[in-house]
Amino acid sequence: MIAHFAGGYGAATLSMKRDPLSIKQSGSEFPLILGRDVSGIIMECGLDVKYFREGDEVWAAIPPWKQGSLAEFVVVSGNEVSHKPKSLSHTEAAAIPYVATTAWSALVNTGGLSKDNCANKRILILGGSGGVGTFAIQLLKAWGAHVTVTCSQNAERFVRGLGVDHVVNYTAGPVEEPLSALEKFNLILDNVGGDTERWALNLLKPWSGAKYVTLVTPFLQNTDMLGIADGMMQTAATVATKALKHLVKGVHYRWGFFAPSGPALDEIRDMVDAGQIRPVVEETFNFSQVPQAFEKLEKGHARGKIVVQISKAGDEL
Ligand SMILES: NC(=O)c1ccc[n+]([C@@H]2O[C@H](COP(=O)([O-])OP(=O)(O)OC[C@H]3O[C@@H](n4cnc5c(N)ncnc54)[C@H](OP(=O)(O)O)[C@@H]3O)[C@@H](O)[C@H]2O)c1
Repeated sequence: MIAHFAGGYGAATLSMKRDPLSIKQSGSEFPLILGRDVSGIIMECGLDVKYFREGDEVWAAIPPWKQGSLAEFVVVSGNEVSHKPKSLSHTEAAAIPYVATTAWSALVNTGGLSKDNCANKRILILGGSGGVGTFAIQLLKAWGAHVTVTCSQNAERFVRGLGVDHVVNYTAGPVEEPLSALEKFNLILDNVGGDTERWALNLLKPWSGAKYVTLVTPFLQNTDMLGIADGMMQTAATVATKALKHLVKGVHYRWGFFAPSGPALDEIRDMVDAGQIRPVVEETFNFSQVPQAFEKLEKGHARGKIVVQISKAGDEL
């Protein structure tokens, strides 16, 4: 996703919403700082900020309409930030907030899941080995769900190590067939997109409140291509048509979006400190290696997250 933003993805909508505190209203969105995750120390607080103090160790996922985290200092709102897990270094903590708040928004806010209603629910994650997938697996397993994922063969051991119950290898052929042979699901989280929604909704238990939530939506692409007004109209028409088409078959079709949230990160911090969720860091780069980090990101096939260390002293900020 960050690699997409580097290529200008979403510029039409995001430029409209740029935060003047964070990005100057100079008529241009540049220089634009990328990077959504941050873990660091509070240098200064606004006068009405009560919950945090200078010197607190915090983490956050910064919304894309603000300047990003590939910088020495970042500006965040009080409701976007949370005290970081004590059990993690800053480098480890920085691997979690963006994928965590995206998965939380999709599974909890949109999908209606919680720690109290997940026991024995059957969840399918399409694309389990990347950043969002590896977090979603751990959250759902901690909440007692039965988790099936699709991933490539060489990720199978890795996702099983995160607690996955059943794995379907997408590189061995179309996954529809092996997935259709399984008991139907209560919720599907789609991190892959493309033609998945052609067959995935048939895997849900009909008339049981089952939901398909996809993170791969045409919203920003529509506004980039058609402009804000037409893009939004096109988006609303598309989602409404699809939701209705599937509702008559007894299943719910939804789009999921990243939503910055300090309160969600507070709950996730407690799960991390309780040993229920761990960061999945594929590789760490220094700030001077940011171009190499982006090159790696663009190649895809992530196993968790790539982290950039901003301070020279690394974790001793
Ligand atoms: N809507 C939003 O607000 C929002 C926010 C964040 C992310 N997203 C979207 O959500 C998706 C996941 O994000 P991410 O950060 O987790 O991406 P990521 O870290 O790049 O992971 C994607 C994973 O999908 C796997 N994959 C690729 N093709 C597959 C297939 N056909 N079947 C199963 N697995 C497949 C890849 O692993 P292999 O090596 O196994 O191929 C890779 O590990 C992306 O499309 C991203 O753009 C949306």
